[in-house]
Amino acid sequence: MTDRVISPQPTPTDSTLDASLRPRTLGEVIGQETVKENLSILLEAAQKRGEPLDHVLFYGPPGLGKTTLAHVIANEMGTSIHVTAGPAIERAGDLAAILTNLHKGDILFIDEIHRLGKAIEEILYPAMEDFSLDIIIGRGPGARSIRLKLPRFTVIGATTRLALLSAPLRTRFGVIYRLGFYSLDAMITIVNRAAGLLGVEINDDGAGEIARRARGTPRVALRLLKRVRDYAQVRADGVITSDVAKQALTLLAVDELGLDEIDRRVLETIISKFGGGPVGLDTVSAAVSEETDTIMDVVEPYLLQLGFLERTPRGRVATKLAYEHLGFPCPESPIQPSLWDENTEDAEE
Ligand SMILES: Nc1ncnc2c1ncn2[C@@H]1O[C@H](COP(=O)(O)OP(=O)(O)OP(=O)(O)O)[C@@H](O)[C@H]1O
Ligand SMILES: [Mg+2]
Repeated sequence: MTDRVISPQPTPTDSTLDASLRPRTLGEVIGQETVKENLSILLEAAQKRGEPLDHVLFYGPPGLGKTTLAHVIANEMGTSIHVTAGPAIERAGDLAAILTNLHKGDILFIDEIHRLGKAIEEILYPAMEDFSLDIIIGRGPGARSIRLKLPRFTVIGATTRLALLSAPLRTRFGVIYRLGFYSLDAMITIVNRAAGLLGVEINDDGAGEIARRARGTPRVALRLLKRVRDYAQVRADGVITSDVAKQALTLLAVDELGLDEIDRRVLETIISKFGGGPVGLDTVSAAVSEETDTIMDVVEPYLLQLGFLERTPRGRVATKLAYEHLGFPCPESPIQPSLWDENTEDAEE
């Protein structure tokens, strides 16, 4: 699944690219204007008061810049950042070791924070709230608990699934920012900036072509750019024009909206096997032989964004736009309006 060229999830070969292309300051971050403005106020206020930053939570689909922003914050605050991830902290001792190594103002970045174990979360609550760590020494009747004082530090959490975060953990964050898909303009700027840094020659139409197919996701744009650059060097004169980009992306089976084979298979399955839906996520997942998590994190957000798919209380429904895009004859009313209920949209998460 992560082999998909348009997968927003990181692949091992992305890491070097990520490191060299990642914006370092807030000024270099493209798009996400609201988040950036709020963040700059938060940072400046903390700096003026000479205090560590409030705990910050970023959520949104993969590849939109959560990790990038965490590093940008550390850089802007001039503090060190310690990076870990929910699944990496297995035992209470692991977290205690991390926490006791922090200095005042340090940032602890916890990626995939929704995957922290319950027992670990319970240690994190007082650490985030009172900057204290309760440790139990000994076992049985002789066991006693001691409370260690921690320096004031900042947790930056990142998650693709806000709904899976427990309410007590969520309330420990002073600010919660949602990252959405990027506008076409922002995507074009991202492609041009990356091409500049990589020393690739690209014209406006070429950048537009890549940006349009990159699913509003910077990580996808960077990966597509890399592949198109290869194609341009081998099959053309090295310059990325609209034609070169189109040919390269067609060869990669990424269509003009950025859908690939798996996106199309999910939609086609809903349309041709289940009459357009509603059909439950588990059923779709079994029919296309992909994990439900992958479909929810990687396939659906973009299809929802395009308006190709809707989540209803009774399951997934392909919309008229999806029928049209895939070239299926559209039934009179592919969606029954009576099924709508905005509030239960995310019921399955
Ligand atoms: N606003 C932006 N401007 C320019 N480049 C960006 C921006 N946001 C992200 N990128 C680029 O996109 C890539 C992916 O971003 P990042 O790793 O921060 O995503 P993420 O949200 O943490 O993803 P995941 O959920 O998979 O951890 C990075 O290499 C970064 O260079
Ligand atoms: Mg990340």
